[in-house]
Amino acid sequence: MIEAKNGVFNLATPNTSYIFKVGECGVLEHLYYGKRLDAFDAELMSNVQNVKICDATAYDKDHSLLFLDNLMTEFSTEGRGDYRLTSMKASYDNGHSVLDFVYETYSITHGIPSMEGLPSVYGDEFSTLEVVLKERLLPLRLRLYYLVSDEKDAIVRFSRVENEGSEDVYIQALASLQLDVPNPDWNLVTLDGAWARERMVCDRPLRPGIHINDSKTGASGAFHNPAIALKAPNATEFQGDVIGLNLIYSGNHQESVELSPYGRGRVLTGINPNTFTWRLKAKSSFTAPQAVMVYSDKGLNGMSHEMHRFVNENVCRGPWRDKERPVLVNNWEATYFDFNEEKLLDLADTAKDVGIELFVLDDGWFGERENDTTSLGDWTANGRKLPNGLAGLSSKLHEKGLMFGIWIEPEMVSEKSRLFERHPDWRIAIPNRKPGVGRNQYILDWTREDVTDYMIACISTLLEESKANYVKWDMNRFFSDFNTQGSDKYFMGEFLHRYVLGFYKVLEALTAKFPDILFEGCASGGNRFDLGVLCYMNQIWTSDDTDVLMRQFIQWGTSFFYPQSVMGCHVSASPNHQSLRISSIEDRFNVAAFGILGYEMDLTRLPSNELDVIKEQIRFYKKNRRLFQFGTFTRDISYFNGGNNLKWLVADEEHLVMLDACMLNVPNMPNDRLVIPLLDAGFNARGTERLLVSSRAQRIDRSRLGDNASKFKEDQRGLGLKTSVYAGQLESAGIVLGQRFTGSGDIRLTRIRPDFSTEMYIVDRMMI
Ligand code: DGJ
Repeated sequence: MIEAKNGVFNLATPNTSYIFKVGECGVLEHLYYGKRLDAFDAELMSNVQNVKICDATAYDKDHSLLFLDNLMTEFSTEGRGDYRLTSMKASYDNGHSVLDFVYETYSITHGIPSMEGLPSVYGDEFSTLEVVLKERLLPLRLRLYYLVSDEKDAIVRFSRVENEGSEDVYIQALASLQLDVPNPDWNLVTLDGAWARERMVCDRPLRPGIHINDSKTGASGAFHNPAIALKAPNATEFQGDVIGLNLIYSGNHQESVELSPYGRGRVLTGINPNTFTWRLKAKSSFTAPQAVMVYSDKGLNGMSHEMHRFVNENVCRGPWRDKERPVLVNNWEATYFDFNEEKLLDLADTAKDVGIELFVLDDGWFGERENDTTSLGDWTANGRKLPNGLAGLSSKLHEKGLMFGIWIEPEMVSEKSRLFERHPDWRIAIPNRKPGVGRNQYILDWTREDVTDYMIACISTLLEESKANYVKWDMNRFFSDFNTQGSDKYFMGEFLHRYVLGFYKVLEALTAKFPDILFEGCASGGNRFDLGVLCYMNQIWTSDDTDVLMRQFIQWGTSFFYPQSVMGCHVSASPNHQSLRISSIEDRFNVAAFGILGYEMDLTRLPSNELDVIKEQIRFYKKNRRLFQFGTFTRDISYFNGGNNLKWLVADEEHLVMLDACMLNVPNMPNDRLVIPLLDAGFNARGTERLLVSSRAQRIDRSRLGDNASKFKEDQRGLGLKTSVYAGQLESAGIVLGQRFTGSGDIRLTRIRPDFSTEMYIVDRMMI
């Protein structure tokens, strides 16, 4: 509900209120964001000073108590007394850069305004508040948008600036969202990392000064994901105030969090101003990407649950949105570049036998590609490896009852390629300068219409001819040397944003043309894991790192803002290719099952008993697939607070599955207790209701038993728990489990929990 009364705007969602007002001099004063207020007095929330600040700048001599620097506002500019980072910076050719936007009018409409080439959230439930501000002197108008619904707590925001004058204006920053908060003692949570260790949770108290969370590599990046959270000092996974923010953008972003000398927090999120200047021509407008914010008083999980629902229902789209995603096999870590049709078909046969539904052909199938030095851009089959072409392979896979998926990296070009020979000027480079190189490859200039049009046509032909059911869209390098060759039409400051618009243009065209294809985003693992990508592709490859322990950290951090329905998670070989860590096939499955399951290993080389295990895993996953992919995902305890155990839950009204992982085995410890936070995880049960609890039957990895192996029968399985229990008991007293392996007594009665091991528990309602 959006309410506008006497200059006060109240945006009410089911559980939250966002309130601001037209204040003195037309300044938009931010009043409150938090738990829903069904009634309030706006005047009691105003932050305007009642005594002077000695040395601060007052708005003007008639408003001597209006200090912009110590006011919470909805929008800010430099040069009028606000000394914090501000939401907009712009200048004219004559150097004039002081801006002062004041309230003009507003409108409330049902629906969502068009985003002019940028991705947009969607949903009939949204209404939009548009607040118009006018520069006091200059011919500039600003529009602030707030998308609000009665069904979701997520509020979407963005801004648009219009140049109504006859001179160009250079926009150096335009935040999508400014959020001023009154809490100096809150924490900032970010997801930081790099290749193979994406989205590690970093949680620290706010300190005076500015913290920048950004990307300058051209894509949203793995260094710092665009999603951040602010959290009250006492907030936990299950309780306390948390605000989550995320930007719907795949390029360079910046989230600045500033704690001012007066103890106010200011968050700005948007396109990274460090790599951006936009020449706003006369009579034209510029729109900043959308950003989403969620407040919850139910801790980090409360915020995540809302974000997950929003991503699933208002960001992801198309026929695949609510469909259960296929279990896939990917040949990358099985073969790397070394494969031929026969080898692929062998892998496909084994995959089919164990219940896999989709075969994904990864890098190396095109041009002359035998390694990563050639052929990007030549999107036709390598005749030596695939003598029957892609169509031949695809039809054989289809005959076997498998779907066919194809890897592409359409934004790139290799120097050794026919495309580069024909169009050397399509590569991003600066004339007379040798361009920087990443993974032996270069980026195509997708700011150019002719290049994006070519690629839409080229990939369309590929998808039509190969009858692909799935596309893995990769992107394996950072940007450098940006320049639009042969043209001075754009300023360099526009280049990276124009590239991102080109990326969205191609995605828009291809996903519209091939609505039934399931697209999975990828960028050297999870280097472009963002909501912009998810507006076009329903899932993203989470990380190249599939190590059993690292994946717990990576999926944990990712789950703060992204649901498991968008996370590609594969079971790969042991020792793991990224970490050399040895782990059991069951443990690797237990972690990968909390996402979109795939297998990425040479299944043809596995012994038959291991294939039986995989068959059983896939059967179990398919039975619980809706829960694993679309159930409510909840984090319980974790390694992050210094613990040795981690618990994840997925639940719906009827079922719940819990992962219990342990990092290091410590012998001779007290018995574990199985305690499951049913209600917090979304499984509603009366305390006196009896539930059925069982453990997933797992094969013991005999190779990890050493000299004790002979004491176990070949087919002996793990815990074998199956009991009924009162819901209330399960939530608090729990079930005391058998002792872990300790090296003494009858070890056949113990739970085998070596380092990095996992168990899975299932809770069902009892059939009456
Ligand atoms: C990087 C991806 O993350 C991998 O999964 C794989 O597709 C390689 N690229 C192929 O080059």
